[in-house]
Amino acid sequence: MSDPSEMTSQALAAIGQAQSNTELERIELEYLGRKSGKVSAMLSNIGRLAPAEKAALGKAANEAKRAIEGALVARRAELEQARLADLAETEAVDITFPGPPLDRGHVHVLTQVRRQIETVLESLGYQVELGPEVETEWYNFEALNLTAGHPARESWDSFYFSPELLLRAHTSPVQIRAMQRLKEPPIYIITPGRVYRRDPAEATRLPYFSQVEGLAVDKGLTVGDMKGTLLYMIQSLYGRERKVRVRPSYFPFTEPSFEFDVSCGICGGIGCKSCRHKGWLEVGGCGMVHPQVLRNGGIDPTRWNGYAWGFGIERMAMLKHDVDDIRLFYEPDLRFIEQF
Ligand code: PHE
Repeated sequence: MSDPSEMTSQALAAIGQAQSNTELERIELEYLGRKSGKVSAMLSNIGRLAPAEKAALGKAANEAKRAIEGALVARRAELEQARLADLAETEAVDITFPGPPLDRGHVHVLTQVRRQIETVLESLGYQVELGPEVETEWYNFEALNLTAGHPARESWDSFYFSPELLLRAHTSPVQIRAMQRLKEPPIYIITPGRVYRRDPAEATRLPYFSQVEGLAVDKGLTVGDMKGTLLYMIQSLYGRERKVRVRPSYFPFTEPSFEFDVSCGICGGIGCKSCRHKGWLEVGGCGMVHPQVLRNGGIDPTRWNGYAWGFGIERMAMLKHDVDDIRLFYEPDLRFIEQF
């Protein structure tokens, strides 16, 4: 049988070197295991000893047991300390580390199309002119030859704040405002902006949408000048293969008046499902400015004449990107928005 004090110092040395709880458990079992532990083994033949030796051996075994137990507790605490210190080091938050990149947005497709239109027309010398969305009855209707009770007013029914004040139904009132502000022709302006109509929300129309209006006032302008300008704009935006056409129409503020069509980009004008087999898509109206409208803007129609057009920006975006439902532009659905 080994010497109790030597056994104890061996145990304490092993404990001091142990690097893990598993190792400590193994050591604990080796020395303090109830059946085969070394301390128990020390007492295995205690029955045959004389009483005085019995007491001495019992005491030595107890001391060894307590010393080993104490060393185990101390070493476990040490290992736990070291583990926490390690964690503090490896798990520490580095506040100088760059965060995850922020998702960058981009301008909405309608803004993109509006800016493209502006860029093309600015390159031709047109200036961007803005007008109020809350408009007076005079600018929205009267000054554009839509006198009270005029049947054509129905096409531009809007939302009224009072009999004199309404949400503008088109960007045409800015024609008058621009002439009044700039006074002296030549005047070449475009005016983009939101307009409102008493229409239901459907695949092809909404109670709110955007237009871009153009106005040119100069000497001796012709329908050919207008058509050439619009052809240039359309081909700049959609490509040289696009064709345009004007069809006779009626607006009280232009004479003559036309609807303006662009050849379908999907079938090239032959006719397909997307253009309802017409080969053409309508983008808006245009015409030569009515002399009375010039007069209402403070311009002498015997010296000057002009042309004007008003196109739907959503329509133009639909044409460009083959979108088949206008409502998509106003829904916050990122799957749609992120495509452009
Ligand atoms: N204001 C007309 C509309 O909203 C479009 C238009 C503008 C027509 C200018 C002719 C000239 O339908």
